[in-house]
Formats: sequence, structure tokens, C-alpha cells
Amino acid sequence: MISRTTIDQVFDTARVEEVIGDFVQLKKSGSNYKGLSPFSDERTPSFMVSPVKQIWKDFSSGKGGNVVAFVMEHEHFTYPEAIKYLAKKYGIEIEETEQSQEQKEEANERESLYLVNEYANTYFQETLHETGPGKAIGLSYFKERGFSKETITKFQLGYALDEWDAFTNSALKNGYQLSFLEKTGLTIVKDDKKFDRFKGRVLFPIHSLSGRVLGFGGRILVNDKKAAKYLNSPESEVYHKSKVLYGIYFAKQAIAKQDNCYLVEGYTDVIQLHQRGIQNVVSSSGTALTADQIRLIHRLTKNITLLFDGDAAGLRASLRGVDLILEQGLNVKICTFPEGEDPDSFARENSLDDITHYLNENATDFINFKASLLAKESKNDPVKKAETIRDMVTSISKIPDHIKQEVYLKECSRIMDISEEVLFSTLAQLLQKERRDASKKTKSDDNTLRVVEPKTTQHIEKVDLQESLERKIIELLLLYGEMEEDFDDLMMESETTGEVVHRQEKIKSKVFEKVFLDLQDDEVEFANPIFQQLYFAIIEEYQRAESLKMDQFVNQLPQELGSVVTHIIMDDEKYQLHDWQRREIFTKNKEHGVSKEVIDTILNLRRLLVAKKIGELSGKVQQSESSVDSELMQDIMDYNTLRKMLSERLNRVI
Ligand code: CTP
Ligand code: MN
Repeated sequence: MISRTTIDQVFDTARVEEVIGDFVQLKKSGSNYKGLSPFSDERTPSFMVSPVKQIWKDFSSGKGGNVVAFVMEHEHFTYPEAIKYLAKKYGIEIEETEQSQEQKEEANERESLYLVNEYANTYFQETLHETGPGKAIGLSYFKERGFSKETITKFQLGYALDEWDAFTNSALKNGYQLSFLEKTGLTIVKDDKKFDRFKGRVLFPIHSLSGRVLGFGGRILVNDKKAAKYLNSPESEVYHKSKVLYGIYFAKQAIAKQDNCYLVEGYTDVIQLHQRGIQNVVSSSGTALTADQIRLIHRLTKNITLLFDGDAAGLRASLRGVDLILEQGLNVKICTFPEGEDPDSFARENSLDDITHYLNENATDFINFKASLLAKESKNDPVKKAETIRDMVTSISKIPDHIKQEVYLKECSRIMDISEEVLFSTLAQLLQKERRDASKKTKSDDNTLRVVEPKTTQHIEKVDLQESLERKIIELLLLYGEMEEDFDDLMMESETTGEVVHRQEKIKSKVFEKVFLDLQDDEVEFANPIFQQLYFAIIEEYQRAESLKMDQFVNQLPQELGSVVTHIIMDDEKYQLHDWQRREIFTKNKEHGVSKEVIDTILNLRRLLVAKKIGELSGKVQQSESSVDSELMQDIMDYNTLRKMLSERLNRVI
């Protein structure tokens, strides 16, 4: 692990405007900088950097955060990778925290495997470009396939001499240990003999998202029925086949920018499309798509387009990937190529315009795709049709978003000419079965297995309302937390007669104290876990320091929280920047009305939570078959009284 001191040093040294300046042309605009968003194609700048607060926000994509968040977002680095990048830029030495002996050895071993791969990658490229056989055999093969010099260099393609141990000997001579050569699979050791795995093959290095060489794919050049066309590195500490995608390092920027990822089958498909100008493309390298690979893409976009070869062999099998993609909440389209063509050949024969046009015209939604598959197979076969419909609904059932589910069901009903009711009940059955299977698996003792609960729009609105109230509370705390305000408060007092009366009273208090005390009274918990964590972090900071130094505060937060804070602050800033006239009115109003806003927000949130609680309890009453629980009824009545009280107060405040 990187030590806290190093991380602090990076944050103290790195200037957000300098780091971003390496990627985006920034222009001064008031106390901020503005530029064109690096995350979308835009003509008018909506990307803002605040040197004072040391944060940035991209209004076109909604992204934002501190300096580390930018590097992570732009380069798609993990947190430690981003810290290392910044440390390097500012010449800061990285100090690692104490690791156990075992951890050290593991890290050392992984590092050694990477180094061996790196050495091999350089060696194979040199062999390709600088040796006689490399040029005559390897290079001419790539040229024959239509790869340009730039493409060959960019993808770091290489060649291994057709000799038993040329590479292994060279590596050993350069001080690389045999055990690491064996573990990466570059060398095969049999008894006391050593062989080069990739002998006589052209090589495609496989890179991680951050550009390290994980392994290789090697293509044979002679026609040999006994040898595999492609030979790949075996699984190792650094190469996990199911977790990598060929081409991801070269495609990541384009995938994020186009907000779509093309998925093809082979190495050459990736390279050929890339050379033609379609750079947002990766390959699962001939194996079935895995959940880990989809997660990798998900870091960059929510949209995947599967490109399938013209021969429909195994098409249905590949369609399993579709459900896997839907399950993770991503959108999937499918595009097939004309008979006998694969993306490689198609890209070779057509211009960029033609390819783009073809992809746009032919990429179909999975629902339409499945329907057209049926049309091809046998349109008038009712059994087949029923099967296809069930297949479609199964796919739809994987989508986590209920609104999307409904939209697709309606689409399916239209295309297949079958009533929506039947489809909805099929979906309900499927979901119910899934739950039953799931609960069987977990041996859950919850025997109140209920039928699918359709998420009504009312329910969704409620969730949104709660979240926006929670966000509002965070916003008020961030912007006005340390302000001292007069709050109209309602005090409950019991008269000497025993009667309870309400008396209005002005109380002076800091905004954060008021919020904290009010929410604590009701033991309010936020539904959104991010807001909940942020809430505690903010309150803690105010209690500790009495004020919030925004840049320091953001930097000490975990990445995810820091980014949320940035959004909230920058949204406020944007308002002020873009419209200074309105800003005067707005800020004046806002600051005058702070105490009112605080009270309103808290009351609204409390009222919502109480209403929710009442709903829950009433649900219990309906469910319990036994005689009505009097304690439960009393609870409901109490909550109703509270709700009425809150509504009254809200009206009074308004
Ligand atoms: N593949 C593999 N091992 C094989 C065959 C294929 O790992 N024996 C993987 C490779 O990643 C290959 C992909 O599956 O790129 C697709 O296979 P295929 O369509 O046969 O290869 P192409 O990429 O079309 O290769 P080429 O055009 O060079 O024949
Ligand atoms: Mn091919």
C-alpha cells in the first residue's frame, strides 16, 4: 500500500489546474478556468476547474471531483495508479507502508512476471522489425493482412523466431529467472529442456486497462492441422483470461467518449477496425463473455454493441452474453455482418463512412434481434414462436431497472403481436421462480415469499423525493453549515394544568448544529448510503474544526464521497457563474432564507419518513393473519399524530 504520507504529499503538491492543463486547454474565467470537456464532443466549454477549491466539474457529462478523480476518470486508472501517476509528475518518491513478508513476496513475484512480459514484448518487436526472418516472415504477414506500419507499432505486434529456445536464451542471458519465464508461460520447461512457447508465431501482446503487458496471443503462419491457429499465454498471477479484454488499453478513451463499446471476437477484428478509425472496440478473444469482462467495460460506458460474424454458427450460444450484460444493468445492441464477412474483412473492404453507416443502420436492440432470428428460422411455427417469446421475456427479466423492463415488455408485445398482460404475467412467473430458487439456495427462513411487487411510479417518486431531500440537507450543510441563524422553533411545554401547549420561540444556532440535533431527535437515517456517510463526515468535521476548508475536506474523503461533494458545490457555483445577474438575487434570497430552508427540508424529510413508516406498519396489519395486534395499532396511531403535527408545522413555516 502507498503510505498516507505519500498520498498527503501528492495532494499537497498536485495542482488540479496543472494536471488537467496537460489534457485540456484551459482559459481563465473569473476565479475559475474553463475549457472543452474531455469527456464529450462539445463546441462550447462546459468544463470548469476551480483552483481555489482544487476541484473540477464537467457539466456536459456530470462528472467532477478533485485532482485524483480527474486522473482516474480521464486515464481510467485505479486510485493507487492515479496517485502513482501524480507522484511521478511531481517527482514525489513513493513510500510503501509496511507489508508482511508474504505480501512483499507476492507483490515482488507479480512485479517480476510483469517485467518478464515487458522484456519479451520488446524482444519480439525487435525481432519483427530488425531481424531477417522477422522482416521476411512476420512483417510481411502483417502487411499482407493490411496492417500499416503505424498500426503494427501502436499495437506493439511482434514475431518469435522459429527456433527452439532463441527467446529463452536471450532472456536468461539478460538476467531473467527461469522460474518467472515458466510462470508467464513464455518458456515451457520439460525435464531439463526449455522451449519457446511462441516459436515461429506472430505475436499480439495483451494489455491491461493501464497498459501493462499481461500475456500474448500468438498466431501460427503455416498451415498445420495439428497445431492451434492461436496459442495464448496460460493463466498466471498476472494473466486471468476471464478478466481481460484485448484492445481495452487502446480503446478506453474512445469508449468513454463515444459512450459505446463494440465487442468483437478476434485480435485482428480489433486492429482492423481501429486502423479504419473505429477505436472503441475490444475483443473477448474467442471465449464466451464473462461477468468480469462486462464489469471492465462498465467502468467506461453503459452501452455495448456485439458484432457477430456473418456465419450464424454458434450465434444462439453467443446470445447468452446478452443476458449477462442486461443483468449488470447495461444496454446491449447486436449487429451481424453479411454472410462470409467478419469485422476484420468488412473493415478492410469498406471506408470509415461506409462502416459507420453500416453499424448505425444494422445495430439492433436485443428484442428486435431475437425477433428477427425467429423470423429467419421459422415464422409460422407456433412452438418456435412461443419459445422465442419466452426467451425474450427471460432476457427482459434480467434487467434490474423496472421502468426499462416495462418499456421492453411493451416493445416485445408489439413486435410479437401478443398481449401485454400475458407478457407481464410471464415475467412475474419468471421472477417469482427466480426468487424461489434464490431463497432455496440461501435457505432463507423468510417464508413470507410474496408475489412480485410491481414497482409503481408512486413508489419511485417517493424514493426520488427522499433522495433529493437528503441531498438538500448535505447541500445546506456544505454551503451554510457554519452560519449562525435564527430558527423559529416550536417548543412543547406542559402547563401546570398538565395540558400540553406549543410555543413559538426564536433560537440562535449554527446550521449544522440545528440539523444534527433535529435529525438525531428522530434517529433519522438516510436511505442513500453515500449521503449517510457524507452526513457523518461533514458533521464530524464541523464538530472538530468549527468550519469546513473545502479543498482539504474533499481531499481527505474517499473518492466516491469527494466526487459527490464536488458536484453539489459546483452546481451551486455554476449557477453563480453563468448568470451573475440572477446570482445576486438568488444568493441574497438563498442566504436570507437559509433558516427557513433548513427547517423546511428537515420537516419534509421527517414527514416523508413518518409516512413511509405508517405504510410499512399498515402492510404488517394486512399481512398478519392473527387477530389484530393492538400494539401495532397504537404505533400506527402515534405515527399518524406525528404526521399531522409535522404537516401543521410545515404549513405554518410556509
Ligand atoms: N482463438 C484462440 N485460439 C484458437 C482460435 C481462436 O484463442 N485456436 C481466439 C483468438 O483470440 C482469435 C479469436 O479467437 O482472434 C477468433 O477466432 P477466429 O475467428 O478463428 O480468428 P480470427 O481472429 O478471425 O483470426 P484470423 O483472421 O487471423 O484467422
Ligand atoms: Mn478473421
